[in-house]
Amino acid sequence: MVSHRLVSAAIFIVCCLTTFADAATLVSDEVDALRSIGRTLGKNDWDFSVDPCNGTRGWLDQPFSDDSDYANNVTCDCTFNNNSTCHVTRILLKAQNLSGSLPTDLASLPFLLEIDLTRNILRGQIPRQWGSASRLESISLLGNRLTGRIPVELANLSNLTSLVLEVNGFSGPLPPELGNLSRLERMLVSFNNFTGEIPEAYARLTSLQDFRISDNNFTGQIPEFIFRNWRNLTRIEMEGSGLSGPIPSINTPLQSLEYIIISDLNGADAAFPLFNAGLPSLDRVILRSCNLIGEIPTSLREFRSIKILDLSFNRLSGEIPDLSVLDYDTMFLNGNNFTGAVPSWILDTNEAVDVSYNNFTSTGAVSGCGRAGLYDNFQL
Ligand SMILES: *[C@@H]1O[C@H](CO)[C@@H](O)[C@H](O)[C@H]1NC(C)=O
Ligand SMILES: *[C@@H]1O[C@H](CO)[C@@H](O)[C@H](O)[C@H]1NC(C)=O
Ligand SMILES: *[C@@H]1O[C@H](CO)[C@@H](O)[C@H](O)[C@H]1NC(C)=O
Ligand SMILES: *[C@@H]1O[C@H](CO)[C@@H](O)[C@H](O)[C@H]1NC(C)=O
Ligand SMILES: *[C@@H]1O[C@H](CO)[C@@H](O)[C@H](O)[C@H]1NC(C)=O
Ligand SMILES: *[C@@H]1O[C@H](CO)[C@@H](O)[C@H](O)[C@H]1NC(C)=O
Ligand SMILES: *[C@@H]1O[C@H](CO)[C@@H](O)[C@H](O)[C@H]1NC(C)=O
Ligand SMILES: *[C@@H]1O[C@H](CO)[C@@H](O)[C@H](O)[C@H]1NC(C)=O
Ligand SMILES: *[C@@H]1O[C@H](CO)[C@@H](O)[C@H](O)[C@H]1NC(C)=O
Ligand SMILES: *[C@@H]1O[C@H](CO)[C@@H](O)[C@H](O)[C@H]1NC(C)=O
Ligand SMILES: *[C@@H]1O[C@H](CO)[C@@H](O)[C@H](O)[C@H]1NC(C)=O
Ligand SMILES: *[C@@H]1O[C@H](CO)[C@@H](O)[C@H](O)[C@H]1NC(C)=O
Repeated sequence: MVSHRLVSAAIFIVCCLTTFADAATLVSDEVDALRSIGRTLGKNDWDFSVDPCNGTRGWLDQPFSDDSDYANNVTCDCTFNNNSTCHVTRILLKAQNLSGSLPTDLASLPFLLEIDLTRNILRGQIPRQWGSASRLESISLLGNRLTGRIPVELANLSNLTSLVLEVNGFSGPLPPELGNLSRLERMLVSFNNFTGEIPEAYARLTSLQDFRISDNNFTGQIPEFIFRNWRNLTRIEMEGSGLSGPIPSINTPLQSLEYIIISDLNGADAAFPLFNAGLPSLDRVILRSCNLIGEIPTSLREFRSIKILDLSFNRLSGEIPDLSVLDYDTMFLNGNNFTGAVPSWILDTNEAVDVSYNNFTSTGAVSGCGRAGLYDNFQL
């Protein structure tokens, strides 16, 4: 009888050991770290009765089928110690109404690559201790209520490729030290209260592809290095950034450059920037309210890939060159000082071209015919 029981107990133990051996588990230090991080963020529904790396619901949810931003996703790498040990690599908690603050102890997840807390209602500052989470490659805090400065310690994150801080209440200057982030590809800081100049040290951010600084209170000029050093640039957004012109000319081929979006510049009048290099991917050129004077250079015709051209609310003058060779579908030339006749290629187009509020001497045959694609409020 007794021996019988011993045998079943033995079988039981073997079963259990086998089961545990199959399921890799998160190291206990990181379980503790997650408890603390969850408390600070206000993430109250993490279930610590299961292993955080097991992929159980609550730790790793399928994304909602609608295209809401919601994400609830803790990802681990469980290939350590012969596939028996896990470390947390990614934490994505998006659009969850988290109302706490940012945890200081990210460095207690030493394998963390990504933290994404997009669209919550987190308050407070970025802890300077984040500079010790040395493997971090991606930080997104987009759409929270965070304030304070960007800590210079983030310059220690030598593998950082993406820093997204848009739509918060961050303030102060951008730290020049971030110019050390040689792998940085995305720096998105639009819709904040940043001040000061764009640091000269950012000339060294040669991996940068996407740079967005709209709606801030920066001062100084648009740095000339943006189109010179950032050879992999795909997109630049500076709408109402506070910066002054002139817009630098482009003398370096930028194979990937798609979007140049600049508006509401401060500063003196300036000529249209020269595009003196191949820009084969150029798709959108928005230079609205940039104090541009003089004529549109006819060389703009060479950039045929342009789909959207917005030069509105400048004081461009002279006749509009023949831009019909562009692959455009929308053009805003309104609110300038163009003279002469409205060109026939505009009168004849089926695309949307706004030439209202200019100083044309003649609108050709257009008056009253309501032609498709031509906005009708000419200022004669
Ligand atoms: C989750 O845990 C169960 C039971 O311990 C195990 O069978 C399963 O393999 C685990 N899954 C993962 C992804 O670790
Ligand atoms: C969790 O996030 C990782 C990293 O972004 C991603 O590869 C994975 O597909 C996500 N899983 C789910 C279920 O959303
Ligand atoms: C690794 O795990 C496999 C099966 O889980 C086992 O056969 C092997 O002996 C283990 N290797 C080491 C070095 O522990
Ligand atoms: C760990 O698991 C993966 C996938 O199951 C397997 O390809 C790999 O060989 C395993 N590694 C070790 C060390 O057992
Ligand atoms: C967040 O709060 C809003 C408004 O109260 C609510 O509609 C939404 O469902 C909440 N989202 C989550 C993930 O709880
Ligand atoms: C960042 O690096 C500097 C030296 O480069 C070091 O003195 C400092 O302690 C580091 N800070 C953090 C938070 O890791
Ligand atoms: C940065 O990433 C490389 C591989 O891409 C890795 O070898 C290196 O250890 C990482 N650096 C840090 C500080 O984690
Ligand atoms: C920016 O600063 C101003 C004045 O200090 C303040 O009124 C405003 O709320 C701040 N904006 C944001 C988005 O934090
Ligand atoms: C620019 O992009 C190319 C192609 O993706 C890549 O090989 C190169 O390393 C990048 N340059 C920098 C400085 O990141
Ligand atoms: C930006 O600066 C202007 C004037 O310098 C000020 O009126 C405005 O409140 C500031 N905006 C923010 C968001 O700080
Ligand atoms: C418009 O251009 C004409 C000449 O082309 C010039 O005399 C006039 O001053 C310009 N108006 C403005 C507001 O720049
Ligand atoms: C319109 O053009 C005429 C002649 O070129 C110029 O004298 C006048 O100042 C211009 N009007 C405006 C509002 O710029």
